[in-house]
Amino acid sequence: MGYVGLPLTVAFAAQGRDVVAVDIDRRKIDALRDGRSYVEDVSDEVLAEARPRIEATTRFAALARCDAILICVPTPLTANREPDLGPLVGAARALADVLQPGQLVVLESTTYPGTTRERLAPILAESGLVAGTDFNLAFSPERVDPGRTDFTLRTTPKVVGGLTEACGDRAAELYGEVCDHIVRVSTPEAAELTKLLENIFRSVNIALVNELAMLCDRMGIDIWEVVDAASTKPYGFMRFEPGPGMGGHCLPVDPFYLSWRAREFDMATEFIELAGKVNQQMPYHCVAKVERLLNEAGKPVRGSRIAVLGVSYKPGVGDVRESPGLKIVTLLAALGGDLRYHDPFVPELPEHDLRSEPLDAVLDGADLAVIVTAHPGVDHDAAVAQVPLALDLRGTTRHSGGPAVLL
Ligand SMILES: NC(=O)c1ccc[n+]([C@@H]2O[C@H](COP(=O)([O-])OP(=O)(O)OC[C@H]3O[C@@H](n4cnc5c(N)ncnc54)[C@H](O)[C@@H]3O)[C@@H](O)[C@H]2O)c1
Repeated sequence: MGYVGLPLTVAFAAQGRDVVAVDIDRRKIDALRDGRSYVEDVSDEVLAEARPRIEATTRFAALARCDAILICVPTPLTANREPDLGPLVGAARALADVLQPGQLVVLESTTYPGTTRERLAPILAESGLVAGTDFNLAFSPERVDPGRTDFTLRTTPKVVGGLTEACGDRAAELYGEVCDHIVRVSTPEAAELTKLLENIFRSVNIALVNELAMLCDRMGIDIWEVVDAASTKPYGFMRFEPGPGMGGHCLPVDPFYLSWRAREFDMATEFIELAGKVNQQMPYHCVAKVERLLNEAGKPVRGSRIAVLGVSYKPGVGDVRESPGLKIVTLLAALGGDLRYHDPFVPELPEHDLRSEPLDAVLDGADLAVIVTAHPGVDHDAAVAQVPLALDLRGTTRHSGGPAVLL
């Protein structure tokens, strides 16, 4: 019932389906029972409409009554940056206890090729039922992009790969209720790798433009001007923007699922490793730039009042998982900076003992403001005009000719 599960739940309920919403996190189940959404893309109004058709529970037993079961648990990395299938294994074991003949099970979590067949199917087999024979099993990657409004669950094509042809048919039929276009691939492995290709593509291209941004900084060339100009090419170029690094649950994590799996096949996936390295470097580059700006004004970071605007990993959402904003806050705090932040989507950063303050309060008396995430509804041009020094890591003020120094 997270960022992936809740929108799916609401979509099927809106189609008139009765949905059992299971999560081990009691707070989420309580929130759903109270009609409180905790996912930005699902408003309380939309949840209220779907609510009569949703049975929210922490008990897996309720799944025995379902025709189809969609697994949307997290797939994080361990401390050693290896796939952590703990949540998936936990959910699969609990499901195996209640699995019924004739059910359809679909894994939606991003993972390496082979997970559905080699990890999920054997655990579900502990039920005594065989995947592809007694029940249907498929993989269908989630493509939701939190905060995006131009493409929805319905209008984003859904890739489906079944363990057997019949498994694929059944999954395609189910998703056809909430998605206009289903893309069938021949196996779960092809569907698993499709999702990873999409995310690796983004990770590599973001790293490329970030590396060029660091080079441009040294060469005195405006990276934004270059990206804008290159983007006028009507074919063969796709725009990616530089920034403080990669965040969110997906891009900094998913590619390493593939590089881990590739090692079993004696392959080093060098693009993935290199992109990860470059993107991880960006917060350090940004902090070095803050140091340089303050230094030019004769100030050390220690003791300087620094206003951080936006800490979530992207505009319009409150997700701080892997956010480069957190790294920048950590690094600046370690240098002795006196930090305050404003983020309308992130009320507090408990691990930094910081709370979001009103924009004016954060800017008042600041030596420098740094725009880390350009949230909608914040007037960044006005903000940078209120402080002696400003660093804009998102290029959001670049067209107004304001005083901010760009990334
Ligand atoms: N968030 C995105 O934008 C996005 C987009 C595409 C794909 N994905 C992928 O989808 C998957 C889910 O991501 P998310 O962002 O929804 O994660 P999330 O953390 O928001 O939600 C996952 C939910 O699973 C629950 N959970 C954990 N272990 C469980 C268990 N054993 N049984 C039942 N519930 C359990 C958690 O309590 C949580 O509520 C991940 O693999 C992710 O990579 C996410």
